[in-house]
Parts: sequence; C-alpha cells; structure tokens
Amino acid sequence: MNLGLTRHSLPTLEPRQTRLPLNLLVKPGFRAAKITNMGLPLSRIAFHGRTLGALSVTPKKAYQEAFEPLLPGITVLPFNASKSEIHRKVNANTCGVIVEPIQGEGGVHVADKDFLRHLRERCDETGALLIFDEIQCGLGRTGRLWAHQHFSPDCAPDILTMAKPLGNGVPIGAALVNKRVADALKVGDHGTTFGGNPLACKVGLIAFDRLNDPALLSHVNEVSNYIVSELHKFSHPTISEIRGMGLILGIQFDSKLMEASRVCEEALKRNMLVITAGINTIRIVPSLVLTMDQAHQAVDILKASIIAASANKVEDTSKLAALR
Ligand SMILES: Cc1ncc(COP(=O)(O)O)c(C=O)c1O
Repeated sequence: MNLGLTRHSLPTLEPRQTRLPLNLLVKPGFRAAKITNMGLPLSRIAFHGRTLGALSVTPKKAYQEAFEPLLPGITVLPFNASKSEIHRKVNANTCGVIVEPIQGEGGVHVADKDFLRHLRERCDETGALLIFDEIQCGLGRTGRLWAHQHFSPDCAPDILTMAKPLGNGVPIGAALVNKRVADALKVGDHGTTFGGNPLACKVGLIAFDRLNDPALLSHVNEVSNYIVSELHKFSHPTISEIRGMGLILGIQFDSKLMEASRVCEEALKRNMLVITAGINTIRIVPSLVLTMDQAHQAVDILKASIIAASANKVEDTSKLAALR
C-alpha cells in the first residue's frame, strides 16, 4: 500500500463512499472555495456517483440536469492535462482534486504517469487535497491492490475511495485517508445511520483480505494477459484500440465500422453480458475469480459477437472484406 496505512485506519465504512472525501474538503483547515474535477475535454466523462456532492464532480449534463443546482465552484480539467494546464487551474483557491486513475464509465482511459505526478506536485504546492476515486479500478481490479500503485510511488493520494468489490455484493464503501486528513477528523464529524454497519464491515474485512491475496492478484494478471493477447491476435479491423489494466479493459471500436452496442447485443444472444462505456467502447470488467476456462469461452463469444456485429455494419465494406 502506498498510503502507509493499515486497514484499521479506515475512518468510515458506509455505502455513500464519495461523501466523506467531499465533506472533508470543506473542513476547517482545508480550503473551502473550489473543488477541481478531472474529465476528458470533449466529453467530460469523469464519473464519481449520483449523490449531490459526487454528482457535482461528475460533469455529465444528462446526470446533472435534474438535480441542479449542484455544488458551486467546480472546475473541470481535461483528463491527462498538461503540467501548465494543471498549474493554471489548480491554484491557491482549489481545495481538492478528484480523479479516477483509470476512468471506468468514461471508457477505460488510463491516466498518464506524468499527469498523476504533476497533480500530486501541484496539490502539494497549493495545499489542495488529492483524491483518487478507485471505486471501480481499485481493490485488485488492475492486478494490484490499488490502481495507483501502477504509477509513480510519488503520487499517492491524500484520500482514496473504494467500494464495489469491498462488499462483494453487500453495500459498503470506504475512504482511506493519510495522516494529515485523519488528524483533521474528530468523532462526530462524519456520521450516518448505517455507517460502520457491523455486518457490512465484517464482510468488508473478509473481502479485503481475499482481494489483497497475492495469489488472487497474480490470477487477475494471468487472465488479463490471456484476454489481451487473444484480442491483439484477433486484430479485427473494427477495433481501433485495446486499453486498460488487469481486468478493467476497454475495446475501442472505429465508429465508421462498428457500433459497440451491437457487439453487446450479439454477446447477449450468446448468453454473455458486456457493457458499453465512454464513446463506442466495450468495457470488460468480469469477476476477479473468472477461471481460465471461462476466459477462453468469453473470448470466443466476444470474437463471434464482433464478427456477427460487423457483418451488419457496411459503411466501409472494403476494410471488412478482409474478414471474410
Ligand atoms: C469511479 C466511480 N466512482 C463512483 C461511483 C459511484 O458509486 P455509487 O453509484 O455506488 O455511488 C462509481 C459507480 O460506478 C464509479 O465507477
């Protein structure tokens, strides 16, 4: 763990996982003027959830509109923004920066190493808190316990959010904080009816131990390597990029040649569920205990679905002719 904390440092365990980090930003001692969020420049596709604070830093009109007005003072930066852009937008008024090291809903975009490092440096210079939202990409999903461990050791966050696999189906979310943040929290600062629910916490501790097991993490890497290498070998002309890490993978389709949703429909006909994300991308986020046999089957279904879906998309038949 980069944070140098044990799990006993978790100050809260509750389903509204993004609430604590956002509330913390406005605590005395931290700056209360602005929250800066990161999103891709064109589509603003960061996703942090649908409760008021989280929605305020999820700059997608379709999600936000019905709930406006939201938190004021949010600035949106491009994902993988340059150092100079970070310097311009993260300033003495910024109280925190929230970013997914790998954007999930946004279409499986992996942050650049330099981007996270520059953010860390700039937050240190300005006193802003750096929050990594690892709700989708954390807890073993990338083949390491935390997604940010793939990046420079110098870019650990002040606050890290986690959820999904932590409860293995039981609703729980948690925020892991460093000492600076923990020292600012007093008893009663953060409370909720079901916070610290004993059943959810017990499940969370057991799931955490399983997810932190090196054997499970190396299994995730093995299955991932297999899927990625099969997709590269397949090298279908409608695929423009394969992205991601571990078992959070994205297949980007060329929109002139394929609609990603068509592949999902074809996969469903073959009894496999896959989902789109971002722009014309399929997101592959299977169970971390997917066996190699299941991975073989899944890859076969995926290839068959892509071939079937591409047969119906005829805008560029010359490229597709190579398939038949
Ligand atoms: C990166 C990320 N953050 C936050 C959330 C929000 O979680 P919830 O809907 O449980 O509030 C999600 C949900 O998909 C997510 O992917």
